Parts: sequence; structure tokens; C-alpha cells
Amino acid sequence: MLVDILKKRFPSNGNSKRFQELSKDIADLSRWFTQKKGLEPQSDYMGQKKFRDAYTLYYLPPNFLKAVYLLEKAEGLCGGQWLDKKEFSILDAGCGPGTAGIAAAFFLHAKKRGEKFKLRIVSVDRSPEILKENTQLAKDVSNALKKESPGFEVDHQTLRLGILEGTSGLALEFDAVFFSNVLAEMGPPEKERDLKIIRFAQKALAPTGLAFFLEPAQRIHARTLLYLRDAFAGEKRFSILSPCPPVLKCPALGRSEKDWCHDDIHWERPDYIARIDRLAGLRKESLKFTHLIVSKEAHGIIKTGAEDRFVVVSELMAEKGKVSAFLCGNDGRFRFELLRKDESESNGAFLSLKRGENISLQGFSGEGETRRLNKNSVVLALDE
Ligand SMILES: C[S@@+](CC[C@H](N)C(=O)[O-])C[C@H]1O[C@@H](n2cnc3c(N)ncnc32)[C@H](O)[C@@H]1O
Repeated sequence: MLVDILKKRFPSNGNSKRFQELSKDIADLSRWFTQKKGLEPQSDYMGQKKFRDAYTLYYLPPNFLKAVYLLEKAEGLCGGQWLDKKEFSILDAGCGPGTAGIAAAFFLHAKKRGEKFKLRIVSVDRSPEILKENTQLAKDVSNALKKESPGFEVDHQTLRLGILEGTSGLALEFDAVFFSNVLAEMGPPEKERDLKIIRFAQKALAPTGLAFFLEPAQRIHARTLLYLRDAFAGEKRFSILSPCPPVLKCPALGRSEKDWCHDDIHWERPDYIARIDRLAGLRKESLKFTHLIVSKEAHGIIKTGAEDRFVVVSELMAEKGKVSAFLCGNDGRFRFELLRKDESESNGAFLSLKRGENISLQGFSGEGETRRLNKNSVVLALDE
């Protein structure tokens, strides 16, 4: 439905000159995002129509899906209670075309189908031009969703605001605050900046609210997010929900500058994005990103007994006679292996671990960097 809305807003034939120009603008934007080359430093690319269009068409759909993935993850971690209401409010900070607000609209529409439900979205950005685009898109989305489910209402407002300037002008206590792909544009990580972001989240969130951070899967941005994660972990009033156990210090920051953490999810590229990829020399075959979810209080969150809770932070690696994966837990990040001869019913779930999955694992031994499961180890997948 979102792709149809975008195609209607940006009609263009895949072979047209306009489509080729758009692909070139997307290639320029991509070079800027990944190498900081091609545009002026501190460039307000959203102020230029060609880059607004490029962003909305090419980056909105994948970022939308990443945001939906995180909302689903949060729902699983909060045991559904977080959504158990008739009204929900979201603040989309650094909204661009409105990615996270639109994701929340589709996500909640699917959850509350047939019910009377009100979603309040407040979209904040420093660029007034992208806020206008956002208003139009939010209207298109809300009309399309209302057509399918007449009781589903979206109340959308925009506010021009720099995130580091504070929360003045923001009236609501939000159930969710999203910072999606905006940290990368807010200068180098430093204590003071992280503190401002924490204060912003603290003021903007309702007592049971969640803050979501989503950043590109590049080492520098992922590590920036991990530093922010540790800053949140040090705050009494916040709990780390995802992607890792609630330990005080992330083990990836202590060992080597090369360590970092990311998610990788499958998606079916819309045809027009596959065509842009071919023309622009890009590849968006899977969705890679890094994320952080924090809660203002531990409301109804499944505490799994931190000792046995792990997060899968690598792919599953099959070698001769054994299968292994890196897991992050209370004591840090270790390589866990299961010898084929030790496979059993209770540890069988180890064989289908996926990156980003939360698991409970009991019964293993080892020292140094490697831990080994045995026939009696118990592995349980915690995500639904
Ligand atoms: C890469 S876009 C991300 C858009 C959207 N959140 C997404 O994930 O698709 C970054 C957006 O953040 C905005 N931005 C950058 N720094 C900001 C700041 N300090 N305060 C508010 N908005 C900011 C930019 O104008 C731009 O629209």
C-alpha cells in the first residue's frame, strides 16, 4: 500500500529521463550518507527538492520496514501491554518524510483492525521543506488506512525543531519516541550530546514510554549508538530493552575498535527500487541497520533471569562437525559452539539461531573466548 501511495505521488516511467535523473540523485545522496562526499559539509539536503524526492522514494520504504520490525520487537518484549490502549502517541524526531510515524500507522492499523483507535503522530525536523512533504504523505497514508478501517483515526502535526535544542513546544507525553537515522547527522558522539538526547527522551516520553534508535549499519554509526546505549544504561530511570541484555557496559566497546553490532533482515525489494539499484550501482538486497530500544521503566517487560539471557550477534556458522554463533550475555560476548554429536531435543533450537534473536540458554562450559554446549543444554527462543 505504501509503495502504491509513493508511486502515485511520484509518477514516473522506469525508462524515463526523470527516472534516470532520480537514480543519479539517489547515487549522490548515497555517497553523501556513506562517505560524506559529494555535497557541502553540514548540507541541508532535505532543503533541495531533488534530494527530498530521492530520499522519499528510495530510503523511506526500507526504513519504514526497519521501524515496523522494531515496533514488533518492542511489542514482543513488553508482552503486548504497551499497546493495550485505545489511543497511542508517537514522536518522530528527525522525521524526514515521516518514516517512523508512517510505520507506526501501518503497524497499529494492522493490530487494531476493526476497532475504534486514535493514533497521534508529532513529526519533528529541522527542515521545513521535508515537513511539508511529510504532511502530504501522512494525509495520503491516513486516508488509505481509514478507507480500510473507518474507526482508525490519525491525528498528525509537524513541528520545526532541532533535537538538541530541547523539547519546548512539545505538549504530549508520548508512548514512543523514534530517532531514526538522525544521530548520524547530529555531530560526533560526545558525552554532552548523549546527555541532551537522554534528557530529550526523558521529557518527551510518558512514564511507560519507549525510545527507539535506528541507525545505518556502518561501524562508526553502530559504535556511536553503543556509546549512547551505555549512557542510557548508566541512568537509573531507563532500562535497556534491545538489542542486548541489561548490562552496564557493552562488551563491543571494551575490546577492539573493530567490534560493533548490527541487524540484518530479509525484504522483498519493490521493483522500482531494484531498477534504481541497477541504474545507481547500489544494492539494497537485505536491510542492515543497528538499533537500540530503551524503556523509561520496566513495565511488564519479560525479565528472563539475566543469567541465561543471550542475544545472537552473528550469523550461525556451520563447520565440519560443529555449529557456532556469537552470543552476547551478562558476562560479555563469546563464541558458543555445539558439536554435531551433542545435538539433542533440548538444544535443537541452537541450530536455527538468527542474528538479533533473544534466547535463553542454560548448561554450557568453557573458558577464554569459547563456550561449549552439551547434550543437556537447554536452548529456548524467546521472540515470538
Ligand atoms: C537521514 S534523514 C532520516 C529521516 C527518517 N527519520 C528516516 O529514518 O527515514 C535525517 C533527518 O533528520 C533531520 N535532522 C538532522 N539533524 C537534526 C536535528 N538536530 N534536529 C532535527 N532534525 C534533524 C534531517 O533534516 C533529516 O530530515
